[in-house]
Amino acid sequence: MKSLFPTITFAIAISTLTLRADPMDEKQFQKLMKESGDIAKRMKPGIDGKDSAQVSKDGARIEEINKQMVAFWQAKKVEKAVKLSEESVASAKLVASSAKEQDWEKVKASLQGVMKNCKACHETYREKLDDGSYRFKL
Ligand code: HEC
Repeated sequence: MKSLFPTITFAIAISTLTLRADPMDEKQFQKLMKESGDIAKRMKPGIDGKDSAQVSKDGARIEEINKQMVAFWQAKKVEKAVKLSEESVASAKLVASSAKEQDWEKVKASLQGVMKNCKACHETYREKLDDGSYRFKL
């Protein structure tokens, strides 16, 4: 009898892949948004203080968060939000790399590229409730 081992290994590999590719739910999304908000707040002092390590770390984190957002919006089939998130991945990557190179003008320009997308997406897809909290507007 042929060993089942390759089949089982294959099945486990596939299920791990599917799990990892699973887009996050709305609670997780909100958590990442709050984290983005915290990062956005410390960007300016970081840049003013020329804190290369912190700004490049935060830029890389924003890049990672937006990668997860791309998958989230793809699953919801919201094309414009996918595009905004993809653009933010690219701009955040530039924030991280130029902070490492201490090219602060480029950091500022790339950060603007990220921040304008925060605003654009919120204007279209975010709604503020009476209690001050936020939710999706789709
Ligand atoms: C492609 C769309 C999109 C982009 C880009 C985006 N957001 Fe959001 N954001 C949302 C939506 C939708 C909500 C409302 C959902 C929620 O809060 O549960 C939200 C909520 C938030 C909240 C409120 C979280 C809460 O519930 O308290 C903050 C803070 C936030 N975003 C910060 C940011 C920052 C900073 C950026 C840019 C670095 C950004 N967002 C980029 C879609 C986006």
